[in-house]
This record gives sequence, C-alpha cells and structure tokens, in this order.
Amino acid sequence: MNPSQLDPINDVPLHPRPGIVDPPERYGHFDEDTGEYIITRPDTPQPWYNYITNGSFTGFVSHTGGGTCYGRNDSVEKRILRTHLHGRPADQPGRWIYIRDRDNGTFHAATWAPVYTPLNRFRYEGRVAPGRSTITAECNRIRSRVTYFVGPDAEAELWLLTVTNPARRTRRLDVFPYAEFFLWSLARDNNLDSGFKCTDVAVDGRVIVHRSYYDWGADRGGWKRQYAWFASSTATSSFDTNLEAFVGVFRGYDRPLALAAGRCGNFSNRGGEPVAAMQIPLTLKGGASRTLVFAVGYAGSDAQAARQGRRVAAVAFAREQLAKVRRHWRAYLDRFQADTPDATFHVPFNTLTPYQSAITFVCSRSISPYQLTGGRGLGYRDSNQDTLGAMPYQPAAASRKLIATLLGVQKKAGDACHDFFPGTGAGAGGGYSDDHLWSALSVESYVKESGDLAFLDKEIGFHDSDAAAPVIDHLERALRFAEKNVGAHGLPLLRRADWNDCLNAFEGAESVFTAGLYCAAAKAVESLHAARGETAKARRCAKRHAAMAERINEAAWDGAWYRRLITRDGKAVGARSNRYGKIYMESNVWAVIGQAAPPDRAREALDSVRRCLGTPYGHRLCAPPYPDYDPHVGTLGIFAPGYKENGAIFCHTNPWLIVAEAMLGRGRRAYDVFARLSPYTKDRIQNIHCAEPYALSSMIIMPPNLEAGRARNPWLTGFVSWMLAAMGRWILGIRPDFDGLVIDPCVPRWKRFGVRRVFRGTTCVIHVDNPEGVERGVRELRVDGKEVEGNKVPVLTGTKTVRVNVVMG
Ligand code: GLC
Repeated sequence: MNPSQLDPINDVPLHPRPGIVDPPERYGHFDEDTGEYIITRPDTPQPWYNYITNGSFTGFVSHTGGGTCYGRNDSVEKRILRTHLHGRPADQPGRWIYIRDRDNGTFHAATWAPVYTPLNRFRYEGRVAPGRSTITAECNRIRSRVTYFVGPDAEAELWLLTVTNPARRTRRLDVFPYAEFFLWSLARDNNLDSGFKCTDVAVDGRVIVHRSYYDWGADRGGWKRQYAWFASSTATSSFDTNLEAFVGVFRGYDRPLALAAGRCGNFSNRGGEPVAAMQIPLTLKGGASRTLVFAVGYAGSDAQAARQGRRVAAVAFAREQLAKVRRHWRAYLDRFQADTPDATFHVPFNTLTPYQSAITFVCSRSISPYQLTGGRGLGYRDSNQDTLGAMPYQPAAASRKLIATLLGVQKKAGDACHDFFPGTGAGAGGGYSDDHLWSALSVESYVKESGDLAFLDKEIGFHDSDAAAPVIDHLERALRFAEKNVGAHGLPLLRRADWNDCLNAFEGAESVFTAGLYCAAAKAVESLHAARGETAKARRCAKRHAAMAERINEAAWDGAWYRRLITRDGKAVGARSNRYGKIYMESNVWAVIGQAAPPDRAREALDSVRRCLGTPYGHRLCAPPYPDYDPHVGTLGIFAPGYKENGAIFCHTNPWLIVAEAMLGRGRRAYDVFARLSPYTKDRIQNIHCAEPYALSSMIIMPPNLEAGRARNPWLTGFVSWMLAAMGRWILGIRPDFDGLVIDPCVPRWKRFGVRRVFRGTTCVIHVDNPEGVERGVRELRVDGKEVEGNKVPVLTGTKTVRVNVVMG
C-alpha cells in the first residue's frame, strides 16, 4: 500500500509532444458573438474536426478538408470517401481543392492540405460552425472560401467554393477538386487483391460515377453494384479517376502529376484505385469572383447518380441548402440559451456543446476517426444516456423513437442487449449489469420534457419474445432483473461488467455502481408511477429504493468513500486495502445521485473524490492506476497507466460529479468540476490538450503517462451528453417536471443570469437575481409578474412566451 499515490495531482508534469517543433501558443479562439470557433493557423497539434450531417448522411471534416462521409449513417457498409485513419496525423487523403495559375504553373490548395504552403505565404482561417465548416485562404494573390456541409434535401455533401481575384490583372486559373472513393466497407477496401479489381467508372461531363461490386449477403441480394458519385457545377476540361493517373508513382499529394502537367490525363479507371479529380478552368478579371459547387453522394444506378450529381452540384441549390442548414441549427439551439457572467460557461453551452451532443445522438460511437467504424452497433447504455443531453433541443418524436427502439431490444427477463443496429433494429450481445437500468432515466426524462404520459402505456416487444408490454412494465422488469440478480450482500451482480466496460474479470462480484444506478432508476420509476396516480406502486418503489440504499451503506462504505465492487470471496475493489484502484469515481457519485448516501456520507464521499482524484485538468476515474494487466481485475490494466479507464480523466464521469455536487447544493464545487473541463479552459492550453478545444473529448491522459494533459477521442462521447445535462439541468437548474419547469440553480454565486428555454411550446424568458450571492435556493418566483409558490413554472398550454423572474436566497 502506498498512500502517497493517493495524493491529489496538483501539478501534472508536461513533456514535449512528439512531432511538434516550436509550437505556437495558439491556433484559434472562440467567436464569442456566434459561439463558433475560428481556427487561425492550420498547423494544429492534430486534425481538428467538425461533423456535417442531415441526420442520415454524415461526414466528419477536418480543418484542412480531411475526413470522410457515410451514406445512411452506416459506418459498416456505406463509407464513401477514403481517409487513412491510421495515418490520422497526416490527415490524408481529404476533400481537397488545388488552385493552379495556368500562366506560371504555381499552385496551392484552398484547403492548405495537401500542399502545405509555408504559412508566411498562406493566409488561413477555418470556421467551425453547427452543420458546416468553412476554410478561407489567400495564397499566390488568390482568395478562396470553401464551405463543407450536407444538404438537408440531398443524400450528399456539398463543397461551396468561391474563388476571388483581388488583384487588378486578369488571372487564368485551373481549379482541381480531388477526393478518393472507398470500397464501401473496411474489409473490402483492405482487400487489395480483389477490391479494386471490381471498380470502374462512368464519366458524364460534370459527374464521375464510381461503380464497384459489393456483397450484401444472400438475404440482402448478394453481389450488387454500388454507385458513388462526384459532381461539379461547372464544365470540366479534364478529369482523372485513378490514383496513379492523378498523383503519379512515387510522388506525394503535395506535387501530384496532374498539377505538374497542368491537366488531368482523362483516365477512366477500370480495376484500379478509384478517385475523383477534375480540372475546371477559370478566368477571373481583376476583382472578380466565381462560385463553384462540388458534391459527393451515392445512388442506385448510373442514371440516378448522373441525375443526382447534376441536381445537387448547382450553385443556387447549394446556397439554398446552406441557408437551410443555418436556419435548422439556429432553431435547434435557440430552444435553450443562457447568458451568464461567465463566457466560459455560456459560449460553449449556447452553440458547439449542444451541437456536439446532437452529433453524438445521431452517430453514437460509430462514425468517427477514432472509434470502431465497423461491426459494432449502437450501445444500449450509450444511446440512452445520449438522449439526456439532446432532449431539450430535439423534437419529442426523435427522443421517443430512439428510446422505444432501445426498449425493443430489452429481453423479457428485464436485462437488455448491449448493442442494437439502427438499420435493422436488431439487438446483439448482452450480459451487462447496467444496460437495462438506463432506460428508466431516459424514459423519465422524456416524459417530463414532453408531458407524453401516454408513452408509458405504449406496447413494445422484447428482443427474445413476440409478446409486447407497456413501457412502464419494461422499466419494472429492468428493476426486477437487478433485484433478482444480486450477490451475498444484496447488491446487483456485476455480470460481464457494468458501465465500466473494463472492470470485467470479477466472476460473481457485486457492483456498487450498479446499486447506485438502480437507486436512481427506482426513484425515476417511482416518480412515473406517481405521475400516473399509481400511488401504491410508487410507494413500493420507494421501499425498494430504501432497501437497496441500506445495503449499499452496510456493505460498501469504506470509511471515507464507497467501494467499487465486492468480489465473490468478500474482498473489495476501490478500497483503502487495495494497492491499486483504491478509489473509483463511479460508485461514489452514483451513491449520491441515486440518493442512497446519507448527507454526511454524501459530502465525505465527494470530498474524497475531489481530494484523491482531482487534478487541474479534471477528475480521474480511479487511482492509483494499475501498472499492468491483472486477470483478476480486467481489461482496465491493458491500457497504459493513466490511459482510459486505467486512471485517466475518463471525462464521462465528471458531469456525474457535477450533478452529485449540485444535488448537495455545493454550487462552487459543481462549477469547479465543470471549469476544469470547460472548452474555454482547454482553449487556454491548446498545446497540452492537442485535440480540438471546442469539442469535448472522451478522455484526458494522466500521469504516469508522458502525454499527460492530452485529450483523446473528441466528439462522440457520453461526456458531452452528460455535460450538457449537468450544465442545463443542474448548474442553471432548469429541470422539466411532469407539471412544470423547475427552476433550481446551483451556481458559483453568480449575482444574476438569464436563460431562454422552450418548454412544451412556451418560451420561458428567465431572469435570475441572486442579491446575496448564494449557491442554491429560490426565495421568489414570478411568472409574467404574478408570484408563484415554490420554484416551478406551471405548464402554460397555448402561451407563446412568458417572463419568469427568480430571486435566489
Ligand atoms: C465507452 C463505452 C461506454 C462505457 C465507457 C466506460 O465510452 O462506449 O459504453 O460505459 O466506455 O467503460
């Protein structure tokens, strides 16, 4: 036992990053007026991404045009463009646009990559905005501006490009857009022996159609042709459709053959590596601009591809679609806006954090430069949690549909499949102790947001039976499953694992985390019964909650915090007696969120978490990390110490700590947990954080790892779902209830702040005054000037806007 390893990490040693020479201080900053992010240098520590989607066609695009896109959000079989994920630092290939001066042969790329013109000759600005990314550049006295987005009315991504000649003399230019096609699935694309041999192209003036056979399996039609297309709005003077033809052999993308020659070779690919490259001649008089559109999509036939390409790659269509993208996201975000004394809080809260949560809701963990992009479906627990962040912004039907789909892969016994495939609705896997319990939280949250109590009576089937049962019965089954599958101390069995996938080698262990989650789920089901007037059932839930809470407190209190697991032979994990993993975040925060911990223990457990797991960069998942794989602990130890579940800041757990602190009314503490991870905080340490500061990352590496402070896996993470929920529901304290909107801020003594929140069709314009600077407590509430008892704005059907004045104290 080495107690010193539990000392707080107040100072994290920093080491130079590999591959970065003389790092500049900053690469960008938030635009406080719009909440968008402006990248001012393209040589960022790693590619900084944005997502573009219409909900079914989705791509990720880096700030230099890298990334890929997927049709039907299908990361297994419908990836359209190639990008080498293992070569991610190089961010190649991408959706690039070369611009060449026909008179002197000099060229650069409007996307900076892949030519990488020295920055003293290249002016760059990248803009990351909801639904679109824009790169503005000036090089060789040519200005360009390209915006990437997905058309709301097209299964395609569009590149809207404007080229300007700021000088006086006429410029004769050629624009060469470039992208590489992917062979639909990773396995097929990797099979060089056969994959490329099935490819060929049809070139129809402005549209290149890439065709390739793909095996959909006997039950889905077997070998069928797939069609992807690349189109230009403007006539081309040459094209290439094969990698060797455009780039050449033993040449890089920075000086491809076609750019050296000043034209493409008009090569029609037959059985080689398929690309789309075009040459578009532009003559620009002094001061003149030209707008062009390129687009990428997929289709069911040559004719359809040509039709779609021509329809989508058109300037008027692209402008109209881009305007729609802007309007869509503005309306989405306008449903919940805050104005506080601290931009650190409200700038991310108002724009890019809810945008990221919407992307996570759509993509789960599947369309990503970092995570599994094949094979696995969407996670039962992950998607349930993702609804929590997106709920206030989504149309009710979107949350309802996902929650119902998830309940459809619950098993009759009450537990659930671990994954489900959105394309088919099929479930897969299972055996975890927690999956099924998350549904209680998402259903409660949905019903409170929407008022749709009837959803509880909706009949939904099970994964392993044709019988259907009402939603409320599904939730009861989840609770009963947990109650029946308990160990010697009456706590739920860990089974394969619980939320922490990597604590997975404890045959027969009991999970204190799942016990806490069960308590939260029992409270949720209690409130749902009560809302339906089923008071006896509600009372029973309260008793079941109390019984589990008692067991947690009897079996799992370790003196200053809650243990994490109790093994079959009665030993503890997450206890002082352990050498490694003495304390874990999950069991402690969920004992509080599940209202199992009595007040003194709740405070002490959270104090211990803060003391033992806190670092300037956020709070770690456990400490000390395990030095190596231990078959008695689980796959946690396969990660280097300080990485992922093995003692990193596994960020997903931090907003739980915010919620728990807020439930205790400790506003400054809750805010402090938030502030350590806020995008603004990360924006001040761009060279340490490395990942894009405007997106929340799934984890931050911790000592003893040499890359301490570096973030990994930005964008698709339960962290964003919970962070948004913690900021909106717990710090701002705006929480829907069945019969109104609760206003219960828990703040760092802000003297005043404002919130706009749409709730059941009414826009509540909320002003909060806090004359004494308290952390929590509402002493006065007025709705349109009239005093209301308590701290709940009643549902006001038919009222468009209300003024809500709140005085804390
Ligand atoms: C990943 C998984 C999630 C799990 C977490 C902790 O984020 O997607 O399901 O709960 O890791 O292991």
